[in-house]
Amino acid sequence: MFYKQDPVFPKDFLWGASSAAWQVEGAVNEDGRTTAIIDLNSQKKKPYTDNSIAADHYHHYEEDVKLMAECGFSSYRFSIAWPRIYPSDSTEPNQKGIDFYNNLINELIKHNIEPIVTLYHYDMPVWVDEKYNGWYDRGIIDAFDRYVRTCFTEFGDRVKYWHSLNEQNMQICYGDWLGVAKYPETWFKDKWKVNHIMNMCHAKAVVACHELVEEGKIGPVPGYVPIYPASAHPDDQIAAMNAEELTEKVWNDFYAHREYNGFIKSYWKENDIDPEIQEGDMELIKEARIDFFALNCYRSNTAKACGIDEEPREYKLNKSGVKGNLEFPKVPGLYQLTENPYVETTDWDWEIDPVAMRYMLRYVWDHYQLPMMITENGYGAYDSVSEDGKVHDPKRIEFLRDQIYQVGLAIMDGCEVISYNPWSFTDLLSTGNGMAKRYGLVYINTTDEELLDLKRIRKDSFYWYSNLIKSNGSDWGK
Ligand code: BG6
Repeated sequence: MFYKQDPVFPKDFLWGASSAAWQVEGAVNEDGRTTAIIDLNSQKKKPYTDNSIAADHYHHYEEDVKLMAECGFSSYRFSIAWPRIYPSDSTEPNQKGIDFYNNLINELIKHNIEPIVTLYHYDMPVWVDEKYNGWYDRGIIDAFDRYVRTCFTEFGDRVKYWHSLNEQNMQICYGDWLGVAKYPETWFKDKWKVNHIMNMCHAKAVVACHELVEEGKIGPVPGYVPIYPASAHPDDQIAAMNAEELTEKVWNDFYAHREYNGFIKSYWKENDIDPEIQEGDMELIKEARIDFFALNCYRSNTAKACGIDEEPREYKLNKSGVKGNLEFPKVPGLYQLTENPYVETTDWDWEIDPVAMRYMLRYVWDHYQLPMMITENGYGAYDSVSEDGKVHDPKRIEFLRDQIYQVGLAIMDGCEVISYNPWSFTDLLSTGNGMAKRYGLVYINTTDEELLDLKRIRKDSFYWYSNLIKSNGSDWGK
């Protein structure tokens, strides 16, 4: 619908930004924290720096929260590092790890910032990986349950919004990139068994949150990439639906309806796949009633039909940061992704598509009628300090303005959206490009080549965003 006036955001809308422990904290060996599998994964992404220091938020959290307050935040989404809470296979958690998150949460509350906490954002402790073969062994379900119960008990008096797993769908779809797939040759079938074990962990977290946290609310965090059909050809429409199913809808239907949908059951049958669902699993899953969807959305994709006789092709992500280095996947008989001539792209070939934000919110609302929060959205770019000592990032401002405007339009369209937390508050480590690909509203003075003073420098986008959120989404700075 077209509206004659600018969007109006609800009075109690939560405005903030987002981060993840392994990408922002650093201090990977401090106060008892042991190694996470994602630390080892980040060490492989040369020539970029690894996560051992990142933004050093572990030592700068007070300064960082003060900056959030100055910006006008009413929420902050961050994750807890499992290996800080359980550095080893002990029944006793690590008090120093608990202290760090208590201090962070207390600091946020002191500044009237609502903590929104993700329980798992890729940092599985190495001891868990070794004991349970990563996500392949069902033993991890109890280990995860013990970890999340500790978090709910320790922090649940102050943290009311919780997330189970970050981007489970992306972890399965890009198992190799995120270090989840252990045997690439059999991943095609293994992934559904691994996915079921992750679903059990998600369900355990949802049930435990409702049991242990008074007025606690919990939801999953799917990575969402709306998929458009490449043309009005009916086959392209079905291809787009297939892509949507196999990259996101299968997960979203599962979270909302608490059962596997008909599409995935047919897919398993057709491909002779057994996800190894055991007796009692579906009963637990049925109990795991989510309260909201947390959504990460950066871009859109476009799909067209792919004949059954076509050669399959893997998705080759652009890891170089030089435009034109991406190869779209082909999945014979289902779909292939393709370029969209109507949208621009970033240096990493990510589509810049604000309308995708409104499309996603409308789609998820129409399908599930659950409140939604935006937990990631942002512009990854090369930033640097100018001669005037400032960081000018007009493209990020443009990106955020266009995207937030579409969130507002979706709200006007009738969707229930409760918060917006873009990626990221400070610069932090990207999944594949160290400190080269930056998303922050605040610049961190360091590079992949050289460790500098880690000074926090407010980017132009910081001031723009601050004006917008202090006016509850009415000062667009136009
Ligand atoms: C999301 C992840 O998928 O995308 C974040 O939850 C990640 O962890 C973000 O950093 C941006 O991706 P990248 O590869 O540019 O860091």
